[in-house]
Amino acid sequence: MTAGTHRAGPREVARLLGVPIPIVQAPMTYIAGARLAAAVSEAGGLGIIETASPQGRADLAVVRDLTDKPVGANVALAMRKDPGIVDVLAAHGIGFVTTSSGDPGLLTPRLRDAGITVFHVVGTLQNARKAVDAGVDGLVVEGVEGGGFKNPLGSSTMVLLPLVATHVDLPLIAAGGICDGRSMAAALTLGAGGVQMGTRMLASVESPVHRNFKAAVVGADDTGTILLSLPGSPTMRVVRTAAAIEAATAGRTGSGLEAARTLYFEGDMDAALANTGQVAGRIDAVESVAAIVADTWNGCRAVLDETRSLLD
Ligand SMILES: Cc1cc2nc3c(=O)[nH]c(=O)nc-3n(C[C@H](O)[C@H](O)[C@H](O)COP(=O)(O)O)c2cc1C
Repeated sequence: MTAGTHRAGPREVARLLGVPIPIVQAPMTYIAGARLAAAVSEAGGLGIIETASPQGRADLAVVRDLTDKPVGANVALAMRKDPGIVDVLAAHGIGFVTTSSGDPGLLTPRLRDAGITVFHVVGTLQNARKAVDAGVDGLVVEGVEGGGFKNPLGSSTMVLLPLVATHVDLPLIAAGGICDGRSMAAALTLGAGGVQMGTRMLASVESPVHRNFKAAVVGADDTGTILLSLPGSPTMRVVRTAAAIEAATAGRTGSGLEAARTLYFEGDMDAALANTGQVAGRIDAVESVAAIVADTWNGCRAVLDETRSLLD
């Protein structure tokens, strides 16, 4: 097949995900657990459980008490190189996995041999090509406006997504900057068949983070985040808090993983850095996951219809 000749649309991506609506909740360490994932899957999208933390791995079992709908998982390859995770995922009936932050060749063959569909998260065209060579089923294409770990030289979704869509013949899920029907419609137009949302799900009713963190997302304007590159740590997009400004000025942060938990769950917004995407500037209320998924999907269809009608 020549690059760009086949495009997997929303129907095909939804089929690969095993759900009716091609909307995926993003992996977020400590946050993307059973409660949030079950709510997304119950709403018709695909909830994702992070497996970087012991709690996340335990939640692979807990989630089965909350929903009988498909639920996916994420494997952060930089942290979880042990191939034993594949047996754990298969034993819990996980049929869809995203792999991120590491070599896609590490687990892809084993995951696929276990009957699991594998999408790798990429932030550059070069990494997209590497993932294709590793034999993945699809890609999560994430622009630098997204929250969390980023490639410091990465492009925005508006540039990266059509670039990857032109050069790669695999189903694509867009991430970075998506929070509603209009942004989902843009992603589908740029070549994706589905979308992944992190910051939007972080500021949902079912998200386990402290209300202060949700309020920081709701309160942020379009200049409310910064891309922080500190020596010895991965580049991250975070809320522009006093702690983030201080870390940027000092060129280092004193906080570790425990401090992140203090911020996430106790609401001390200066205890650590608060991973958040630029799209926080477009989010002005904490909504239920059911409302987010339904409004995004219905809104996307309405926006595409409206755009089409404006052409005539
Ligand atoms: C609070 C938070 C924590 C995150 N943690 C992780 C993580 O542990 N692993 C990972 O692969 N991505 C992580 N991300 C990135 C998300 O998976 C997702 O790709 C990104 O949020 C998408 O962009 P958006 O925030 O504009 O929706 C995190 C994002 C946020 C907002």
